[in-house]
Amino acid sequence: MPTLTPTPRLPLGDDTFLLVLTGAGVSADSGISTFRAAGGLWNDHKIEDVASVDGFFRDPLLVWQFYGERRRDVAAAVPNAAHRALVAVEERLGDRFLLATQNVDGLHGRAGSRRLIELHGSLLRSRCTVCDRPPFADAGYTPGKVPICGRCHAAGRDALIRPDVVWFGELLPDGALARIERFLDDAAAGRLLFLAIGTSGLVFPAAGLVDAVKARGGATWLVNADAAANDDRFDRVLRGGAGELIPALCS
Ligand code: OAD
Repeated sequence: MPTLTPTPRLPLGDDTFLLVLTGAGVSADSGISTFRAAGGLWNDHKIEDVASVDGFFRDPLLVWQFYGERRRDVAAAVPNAAHRALVAVEERLGDRFLLATQNVDGLHGRAGSRRLIELHGSLLRSRCTVCDRPPFADAGYTPGKVPICGRCHAAGRDALIRPDVVWFGELLPDGALARIERFLDDAAAGRLLFLAIGTSGLVFPAAGLVDAVKARGGATWLVNADAAANDDRFDRVLRGGAGELIPALCS
């Protein structure tokens, strides 16, 4: 059974390997909407309309409007105290730290996190739906327009550009899970600790990381504002806001 406690401190020793998983809740204090809360993004939009390949080809204008609004929100946001506290822990632990985020908002990178895996891609990149040109930096949005690939156009075909985010039914970015596996292997040399922050525990494979860590004997902590679907998988559960709890936990 999870225990509810006042803010303790993470047991960070010289041999601790810390794997952190973040979700939308870590950016809530930066003013970014979460997905499943009342009033969250999935309240006003159907997942299959704006977060699937089929939805994109059915109505690319709607999908670009959705991600264009997200780009606008992110441009107006700044990293909060939780993002910054994770940077400080990374500076302390070096290669014994790894941060996997489900967020596409880029706020961890802007705060200064470097050992970072963006499991669901990035809102701030786009890519072609046809050709193999690499994803490119792109924070723009023109209402009422769906961008077309210039390279494909020059080759005589029209191809739509899409945001470089992972949609439901798609694979995670190349190497993302392998990098986490390597980190878990390296952690056999020390003590493995897993900290999940601000995630409802509903979307896999991220929601399964807690069990991967437990299978290797690691300790598991969760910081979340409300109950998560996988609460009972964690050794310690702290209920509250990440912006307040994470700096205290990591101090
Ligand atoms: P959710 O919106 O499902 O869950 C966010 C969680 O954060 C909830 O459990 C809240 O209780 C918690 N929360 C809210 N504010 C918080 C705060 N200030 N501090 C701490 N916790 C807080 O978001 P995710 O779990 O990230 O995927 O969603 C996972 C994936 O589902 C997303 O990456 C997205 C979505 O569909 C794709 O679009 C592929």
